[in-house]
Amino acid sequence: MQTPPTELLDRLRHHQQHHVLYGWEQLDSSQRAELIQHLLKINLVELEELYRQVLKSKVTLPEDIEPVPISAPQFSTEEKARGEDALRQGEVAVLLVAGGQATRLKTPEPKGMFPVGAVSGATLYQIHAEKVLALSRRYRTPLLFLIMTSPATDAATRAYFEENNYFGLSREQVRFFQQGTMPAVSVQTGQLLLETPGKLLLSPNGHGGALTALAESGLLGELADRGVKHLFYFQVDNPLVKIADPGFLGRHIATGSEASSKVVAKTDPAEKVGVLVASRGRCSIIEYSLLPAELAEAREASGALRFRAGSPAIHVFRLDYLDRVTQIAADSLPYRPAFKEVEHFDPQRGEMVKPAGQPNAVKFERFIFDALPHAERWLVVETSRAEEFAPIKNATGPDSPETARAAMIALHAQWLAQAGIDTRGHPVEISPLLALDAEELTEKILTQTVPIETALSGPQMLR
Ligand code: UD1
Repeated sequence: MQTPPTELLDRLRHHQQHHVLYGWEQLDSSQRAELIQHLLKINLVELEELYRQVLKSKVTLPEDIEPVPISAPQFSTEEKARGEDALRQGEVAVLLVAGGQATRLKTPEPKGMFPVGAVSGATLYQIHAEKVLALSRRYRTPLLFLIMTSPATDAATRAYFEENNYFGLSREQVRFFQQGTMPAVSVQTGQLLLETPGKLLLSPNGHGGALTALAESGLLGELADRGVKHLFYFQVDNPLVKIADPGFLGRHIATGSEASSKVVAKTDPAEKVGVLVASRGRCSIIEYSLLPAELAEAREASGALRFRAGSPAIHVFRLDYLDRVTQIAADSLPYRPAFKEVEHFDPQRGEMVKPAGQPNAVKFERFIFDALPHAERWLVVETSRAEEFAPIKNATGPDSPETARAAMIALHAQWLAQAGIDTRGHPVEISPLLALDAEELTEKILTQTVPIETALSGPQMLR
């Protein structure tokens, strides 16, 4: 391709975006083709409008916001049995979103490859995959494991699973699919940014991109054909997540909910978690960056935060609901701006520029939870932070590998204590392949499938 299509050139000029063709003559034919292909996919009118909204700092909140009704954390035997039945019947699949760029953790590899096992050094991907394997064994059915990647994480993630023999899962059972991208623009001008000459700065379009990506990859249809009715959704960064928790699934099914969410009680108004709220009979999540301070800080007479339903980003969606939402709303989920410091190529100066200590780029993301208000029937269940939420976001300090490891050690020590074993403060790690919960561990210890001393004499990995 020697020149860009005239129609595209006109459009770029009209929207004052033709700087992206800087250095066209020096690009080889594949670089030219790739640039054109990306440019053709960008809706410049929409991008201009998004940038205008950024300038106006326009944030739309749900109307008549109320605290969300929260159902009790304990699941009944019937609820568990119902969820287990759905798992046995192959009516459940799990979806891991792993397309993020881990900008806060600052690792070169996908976050899923981060070693977190306190004794074993197992990575987040390994821990998640082994939970899926343990569930598949327990319910004697291969649980489908969908992993959403992005161009930032796809190749490394696939290679990592391949090198590790899919952690014992069958290849057939693990399905990778890629989310889309969105161009980043300059905070000052709204102009498209370049990573290098001839290459647009693109970033993953947010986990809301899962909806269109699931449909376009054909996975949504395939799941329905296989008889899958419910999709368990979770994030890569939380090693404690109880994947496809049978009690949660059971309550979701028994209440006829289309979208069910777990919540953890927020105690610090500034905690960086989205908050579930009710609005005119529907459920929404307001992202922490958008929650007005007067709502974040509001308290009840007891002193507890009024809006304390913090989201650990653990959901179960009914498949027919996802299908409906994808058809009516996937393209209308709002794009949310994120301000980032990004090194990029400046065509005016003809050189790379480094951010000068403040955000210079706006990225746009869709959030899957912006689909929640489309659910007519929904459910919110409280869970315990100690048992289910220890995300890795930062390299140090709160929500870091250190806090996640400590939480895993504490939980596993508590499981052992329940089984009558004293860890004496030694770090201990329990492989998901040995036990997924305290009950399973106790049973294995009592039936002596696992020979173990009643008191540990050092760090121990129990497999
Ligand atoms: C997220 C939630 C927040 C929740 C918290 C719980 C958002 C916008 N906010 O916050 O409400 O309380 O987790 O830990 O999600 N991802 C993709 N593709 C993308 C972007 C992200 O797959 O384009 C994945 C990441 O790999 C990760 C997850 O989404 O698994 C969350 O992304 P992250 O940016 O870490 O969200 P937080 O701001 O931590």
